[in-house]
Amino acid sequence: MNADEHGFKRLMILLIKNGTVVTGDASFVGDVLCRDGLIEAVGVGLTAPADAEVIDATGKLVFPGFIDPHVHIYLPFMGTFSKDDYASGSKAALMGGTTTLIEMCCPSRADDPREAIRLWKSKAAGISSCDYTFHMGVTRFDEGTAEALRGIVAEEGITSFKVFLAYKGAFGIEDAELYQTLALAKELGVVVTAHCENADLVAELQKKLVAGGKTGPEWHEPSRPVTVEAEGCHHLMTFAEITGAEVYVVHTSCIPAVEAVVAARRRGVTAWIETVAPYLALDSSYAERPDFEGAKYVMSPPIRSKEHGDFLWKCLADGTIDTVGTDHAPFDFETQKRMGHPAAEKCVGADLKPTGKAGNFTMIPNGIPSIEERVKLLYNEGVRTGRIDLPTFVRCASTKAAEIFGLYPRKGTIQVGSDADLVVWDPEWSGVISQKTHSMATDYSAFEGYQHHGRAEVVTVRGKVMVRGGEWAGVRGWGTFLHRSV
Ligand code: URP
Ligand code: ZN
Ligand code: ZN
Repeated sequence: MNADEHGFKRLMILLIKNGTVVTGDASFVGDVLCRDGLIEAVGVGLTAPADAEVIDATGKLVFPGFIDPHVHIYLPFMGTFSKDDYASGSKAALMGGTTTLIEMCCPSRADDPREAIRLWKSKAAGISSCDYTFHMGVTRFDEGTAEALRGIVAEEGITSFKVFLAYKGAFGIEDAELYQTLALAKELGVVVTAHCENADLVAELQKKLVAGGKTGPEWHEPSRPVTVEAEGCHHLMTFAEITGAEVYVVHTSCIPAVEAVVAARRRGVTAWIETVAPYLALDSSYAERPDFEGAKYVMSPPIRSKEHGDFLWKCLADGTIDTVGTDHAPFDFETQKRMGHPAAEKCVGADLKPTGKAGNFTMIPNGIPSIEERVKLLYNEGVRTGRIDLPTFVRCASTKAAEIFGLYPRKGTIQVGSDADLVVWDPEWSGVISQKTHSMATDYSAFEGYQHHGRAEVVTVRGKVMVRGGEWAGVRGWGTFLHRSV
């Protein structure tokens, strides 16, 4: 469905007045005038015709729409499916100020890549309220793969790949496949995003821990220690150095992983670093919560101890880390995370059949729902604490992702000609995060009870107001697929 079919073509002149406009490199008090989905003027004392909608942003911050570069909406994973669909996931994104998301298309090794990207697109088309694109997961590389990927880049408008060095037997690829993927990416000029953990080491450590009776969620982190993640990063960097491909390390959680990438940059490798909101706002103690509650905080790589979180913040402030995503991977606690409960063989919940096996941490679906909370967590934990300034906040939550993934300057900034994706942010608002009020489909919030200041008061996508007064004012299907080219 497009803008005409929605009847929104008669759009729209929108004037946002007297806000503090913040981009990735500047801020000033002024106005933003939008017409027919684009930013028409940015300045001081702008005027608009009588039929324009005027939003007074006095005392508010005006940001470019935020971009989440690492999202899972449709995710068949660990014997189950993630809970959100594009209706709930994109609404949650917008309620939090994210106007563009990049989802990982994650086919199984048996799937045909071209069919997979069409399937993933079909989950979003006509349903997503925010704009979106995909990283194409390369989960197998055989005779037909190069041709399929060439077609996906040239015809489907996807200019980034995703590989998993972890999850052997599911999404993970072998070294020869990694080499071929990177070599092709270099030839095509596309970026390869990568989950970096050594899958064999993880498998061995999991076996050892479970055999030793260490089965609770708190053992997930020791099964994937920082050295395993650093090895994964170093491994990817070696392949990038040899092939010349540009790489982007997703969900970087710890000091040695960042160091491995920085060392490769010094050798001339083009490598970007992403971290994700849970690593910045939580620490490893959450996975140690009693009564299996720790399962809510199981994701991979795991959430680390505080010293690693502190280091990630420093790296954001000095630009070593480029982007902050979420790795939004929403699984319910009661019926899905409980697949890893010691009593899972009896019954794991209303939706699921008993597994017949006693659970352990290796059976807990990995992932934390956070697409709705990323921006407010980054604002509260970063800007309000003084760890990062406002332009850095905008850069790592919006601008950099647009630049790296071929969306800039259409997205990621406030300038004439860019899409009118804007967030009017009320810095004085105070509220509490809760599952009871969130828009995500999950039965829990990993940030339940978190008291925050600031919220997305008005959110626009291509000039259309999707959130007004902090309340949903959007429409299903307004989001459009962002066709990228190299
Ligand atoms: O725990 C995680 N990260 N779940 C989602 C899949 C992935 O690795 O990105
Ligand atoms: Zn991952
Ligand atoms: Zn992910």
